[in-house]
Amino acid sequence: MAPPVRSVLPVVLLGCGGVGRHLLRHIVSCRPLHANQGVAIRVVGVADSSSLLVADLHSNGLDDALLTDLCAAKSAGSPLSSLLSRGQCQIFNNPEARTKVIDTASVLGKTTGLVLVDCSATYDTVGMLKDAVDCGCCVVLANKKPLTCTYEDFEKLVSNFRRIRFESTVGAGLPVIASVSRILSSGDPISRIVGSLSGTLGYVMSELEDGKRFSEVVKAAKSLGYTEPDPRDDLSGMDVARKALILARLLGQQISMEDINVESLYPRELGPDAMSTKDFLESGLVQLDKSIEERVKAASLKGNVLRYVCKIEGKGCQVGLQELPKNSALGRLRGSDNVVKTKQPTSVSRVEIYSRCYESAPLVIQGAGAGNDTTAAGVLADIVDLQDLFHKTD
Ligand SMILES: NC(=O)c1ccc[n+]([C@@H]2O[C@H](COP(=O)([O-])OP(=O)(O)OC[C@H]3O[C@@H](n4cnc5c(N)ncnc54)[C@H](OP(=O)(O)O)[C@@H]3O)[C@@H](O)[C@H]2O)c1
Repeated sequence: MAPPVRSVLPVVLLGCGGVGRHLLRHIVSCRPLHANQGVAIRVVGVADSSSLLVADLHSNGLDDALLTDLCAAKSAGSPLSSLLSRGQCQIFNNPEARTKVIDTASVLGKTTGLVLVDCSATYDTVGMLKDAVDCGCCVVLANKKPLTCTYEDFEKLVSNFRRIRFESTVGAGLPVIASVSRILSSGDPISRIVGSLSGTLGYVMSELEDGKRFSEVVKAAKSLGYTEPDPRDDLSGMDVARKALILARLLGQQISMEDINVESLYPRELGPDAMSTKDFLESGLVQLDKSIEERVKAASLKGNVLRYVCKIEGKGCQVGLQELPKNSALGRLRGSDNVVKTKQPTSVSRVEIYSRCYESAPLVIQGAGAGNDTTAAGVLADIVDLQDLFHKTD
């Protein structure tokens, strides 16, 4: 027999795209596991870019059949309002949706508590997250953007460190943030973090070693679903820079995006302000082939390979291409070893943490570092990790 429920965690989810939908499915499928742990997750509301579907605050939340249908509806491109006919919920469209999220945080913050989960990919959620923190709610993020805008916003969000989790922002489900936090709280100063944090760029760089052309590899990565719709979002290095900024800020560096040295793999003339995604894919990309090929060859002559590396050290932080010995740990890292064999892209990330205790033998975290399923699993683990702050109230 399952033990009595000890902790009920009410959740409002912002974003029901690839990660958000996987999270909802994980919540539903893990019910028996959580029940055995005395934990229950109650999904009170789900928001997308235009509306919020919310249950009556005194109910048990949106039921599992509705959550399953919600995932199916969003996958099929239907709006959240298509679920209204099911009853048990209300819909609010923007801007009322945002007000309703904050009202919900205010009410539940004073009573049962609330976990506001951000699985969107926008800066627009920062205000709601800060208001939720002010209401005493917990926040869990897969979205990197709220932690990488102003330093003041970062400080505000992490001001009560017990109430925030953001493991999935760096390395998806890999325990990078938890490891860094544990080392820091033990008083062991971290001197350096080095890593390969982009599955997309890991894939691209390792494919180049096999003599393939850059333009072909990027297009293949796009067709495998590895890249953002516009691959320049990956090739600009900004996604890696955001991860680096989160880690650097955790180490105490009071820096902003502008302080990070970011190497873009395309010049301004091929950027989004100068040409469309279609033109970039059709005629822009090939213009990069020659220079990248020369760099790959120059590295190869020295027994090296190119890797897109993030390095945080002292007061500095940089992300960009580096030549590394082919046999080094990062050099051996293949972006996605399983693509061909299983058709299930696996993007491998690796992070090395150096501190007093981990000086000559760094703490190494390596494994699948991207993907909706893995990322959502990391978010779910973050939510469950907050259970001790919640109690059953009735
Ligand atoms: N996939 C990975 O491997 C991975 C790894 C680590 C971190 N992440 C992060 O996880 C987040 C989610 O990724 P994803 O692939 O699921 O993105 P996605 O498929 O683009 O989904 C984004 C969702 O956010 C919603 N949204 C947009 N603006 C919103 C707002 N103001 N309020 C509430 N919801 C809003 C969108 O609404 P519509 O449905 O109306 O468009 C959509 O449902 C991103 O920040 C990403 O960087 C992903």
